[in-house]
Amino acid sequence: MSAAIEPSFSKLFDLSGRVALVTGAGAGFGEAISLAFAEYGCDVVCADINLEAVKGTSAKVAAKGQRSAAIQFDLGKPEDVEGMVDAAVKALGSLDILVNCGGGLQHDPSESLPLETWNRVIDVNLRGTFLCCQSQADTCWRREKAALLIFLLSPVPPVFHVAFLLTAQVREA
Ligand SMILES: NC(=O)c1ccc[n+]([C@@H]2O[C@H](COP(=O)([O-])OP(=O)(O)OC[C@H]3O[C@@H](n4cnc5c(N)ncnc54)[C@H](O)[C@@H]3O)[C@@H](O)[C@H]2O)c1
Repeated sequence: MSAAIEPSFSKLFDLSGRVALVTGAGAGFGEAISLAFAEYGCDVVCADINLEAVKGTSAKVAAKGQRSAAIQFDLGKPEDVEGMVDAAVKALGSLDILVNCGGGLQHDPSESLPLETWNRVIDVNLRGTFLCCQSQADTCWRREKAALLIFLLSPVPPVFHVAFLLTAQVREA
């Protein structure tokens, strides 16, 4: 392989100078991704409904030498989502990457699933994730930056991908 096209994996994964906002950072994928991003030089805003848990993740990010902040919010409350993204930008001064890990699944049998449970899952996993993306994209585009969105909720990305592509095209027109 010629030197000109030889891949540099450290450069490929280098996130220094970037700021990521990770929802659901208090546990599971969100915590693991926050710590992995910190290892690649990224500053991380950790957001979760569980304040104690997210403070723990944020402290671990800081221990890796990166700037971090912990924010408590409920994905199911639209006013919380808007406030959380504003607080994230205020805390670390910028926003480049959003990782959507917040939420969860309910395992009740469909035939007896209470309507309140269905509504809560949709409000948190679908509406909440969409509002996070919308707010983060708006923040980035106002600063003329690309908005990088990453999803852990498998059925969601194709729907949002189309929605955000269409929005981007309308904004460019
Ligand atoms: N684990 C898997 O195999 C798998 C596979 C595909 C998709 N997913 C999805 O990826 C996401 C993360 O999975 P995980 O295994 O890391 O889950 P997890 O339960 O370990 O972590 C989810 C985090 O989201 C937080 N959270 C829950 N409700 C919230 C709310 N209303 N507002 C803010 N934060 C909230 C929780 O406090 C928790 O810290 C989940 O939505 C899950 O459905 C998981």
